[in-house]
Amino acid sequence: MEIAIIHGQLHKGSTYHISSMLKDRLAEPDSVVHEYFMPADAPGFCMGCFRCIIQGESNCPHADKVQRIAESMISSDVIIIDSPTYCLEMSGQLKTLFDHLGYMWLSHRPRKEMFKKIGVVISTAAGLGAKRVTKSIAKQMFWWGIPKVFKLPVSVSAMSWGDVSDKIKLNATKKVDSLSNLIKRGAGSAKPGFATRFLFSVMRTMQSKNTWNLVDRDHWKSNGWLLKERPWR
Ligand SMILES: Cc1cc2nc3c(=O)[nH]c(=O)nc-3n(C[C@H](O)[C@H](O)[C@H](O)COP(=O)(O)O)c2cc1C
Repeated sequence: MEIAIIHGQLHKGSTYHISSMLKDRLAEPDSVVHEYFMPADAPGFCMGCFRCIIQGESNCPHADKVQRIAESMISSDVIIIDSPTYCLEMSGQLKTLFDHLGYMWLSHRPRKEMFKKIGVVISTAAGLGAKRVTKSIAKQMFWWGIPKVFKLPVSVSAMSWGDVSDKIKLNATKKVDSLSNLIKRGAGSAKPGFATRFLFSVMRTMQSKNTWNLVDRDHWKSNGWLLKERPWR
């Protein structure tokens, strides 16, 4: 199994520890694991130049850093993204990465490899907000075409992993155990549901009339999606 892990933070606190528990359960001796930390591996801020969308992703001023992460995600079976909850949202540094990946939304140039992957989103909060953060990150994965996304929000009642109670750690461990079993059973067989297929068909209609962004249109055409091909078949 190939796994991409994107940490929305640099430090190794509660969020990192819970993600790492999942990694340890999923990774086999021959697994390839790509691991990135924001902001150390982040591409910096999106400049809003639209070059990725209009001219192609290799024209982004930050293409080197963006494509390193994007290629790891594309080649992986499972993509894990985590973030601590900051002011009821994901970390700012993680959001800057997502801004750079807008070109591969369903509305532009989704990658066909994404339509069979499993996504996992993890967030910890001291009290409130982790659920909202996992939902927000899962939304990004949905727009990349990922058919199955598991969410693991955890309220840790602490500012550091060392201060998390044994009871909460045990509870998190149980959730990670059952999640890893679900992922191992589903890996390779995830298929998009109604919402993705419906949105794909709306975007397909839009792309078939697209005269304003030929890079997008060519992507749909060369994949055969304007005819009978579909990325999940
Ligand atoms: C800037 C900042 C904002 C935070 N905002 C929230 C919040 O909105 N809700 C909450 O319950 N905890 C909040 N916290 C607490 C962290 O989400 C919580 O301690 C989390 O487990 C930290 O994860 P980490 O150990 O991986 O850094 C905040 C912490 C920081 C540093």
